[in-house]
Amino acid sequence: MTSFGKIFIGFLVTLLINTYFANAVWYERNEEQGKVIERTHFKTINSTQLHLREEADKLVSGERRMSSNRWNLVTADEQTAGIGQQNRMWASPPNVNVYATYLIPWPSSKMALQMNIPQTVTVAMAQLLEEIGFKPQIKWINDTYLDEKKVCGVLCETKGLIKGTSENVLLIGIGFNVNMSKDICETLDQPVTSLKVQSGKDWDKDLILEKMNKYLLLNLRKLIHGEFDAIYPDLKKRLIYVGLPLTVNDDGQNYEGICQGIDKKGGLLLKMQNGEEKVFYTGRIVKKPEQKK
Ligand code: BTN
Repeated sequence: MTSFGKIFIGFLVTLLINTYFANAVWYERNEEQGKVIERTHFKTINSTQLHLREEADKLVSGERRMSSNRWNLVTADEQTAGIGQQNRMWASPPNVNVYATYLIPWPSSKMALQMNIPQTVTVAMAQLLEEIGFKPQIKWINDTYLDEKKVCGVLCETKGLIKGTSENVLLIGIGFNVNMSKDICETLDQPVTSLKVQSGKDWDKDLILEKMNKYLLLNLRKLIHGEFDAIYPDLKKRLIYVGLPLTVNDDGQNYEGICQGIDKKGGLLLKMQNGEEKVFYTGRIVKKPEQKK
């Protein structure tokens, strides 16, 4: 190749790297319980979820390949367009919280457990919080609460089959409020808290992420091998609002009743005013019990 050709190719490679990784602060490779977790960290990104949705499309089309022994993890210091459940906005102020999306190959033989994946992630987050001294509760279907306020939200999506394999792409997005101030928490449209608000001290975000990896792996493996039976007791004992009156919105309709807990598949049990017990596998709690003054 001529020296002009070499310079031109060098220029193109540099341009591509700069365009793709312009904002990527660094890349690291961790091993956790025999699994390789490849992490790319961005200073600012629109959304770690959006970023990995694009990667998911490439895996499905065959444009990219991935070994089943790997997880991809994208984290950021700040998101400019963080996405929450029901396509709501997820507040993602700079430098205070953990914003993380995992891309995980998920066996297609275990797709029936799809509804239980977010619940399992919530159990993992609750165990993490217990390890560092908090007393979390789980709000059906997949919110982690401290002191009746949300500290962690989970957004799970399954994409198609990774081309040439028997595994689907699973995306798990986690927003974990670590050092967000009380002032910011109070500007949000639902009761929200952070570890800092609860404990009065700052927390190391990397420590939280390390424990996230640990508990996610532990519990997702448990779900794959033991199905939801293996997760059910851990979810049941941390469930908030059991025995209290609730309103659940499902498919645009509100249902009122007394919360009876969850069934063996993870559905929410509500005893209605007419005595009938209704089970919800979709929907969300829209009205919690009145707080005592
Ligand atoms: C919820 O509404 O409870 C789910 C919130 C999920 C937020 C996380 S933050 C990291 C990832 N990137 C996003 O844009 N959303 C998820």
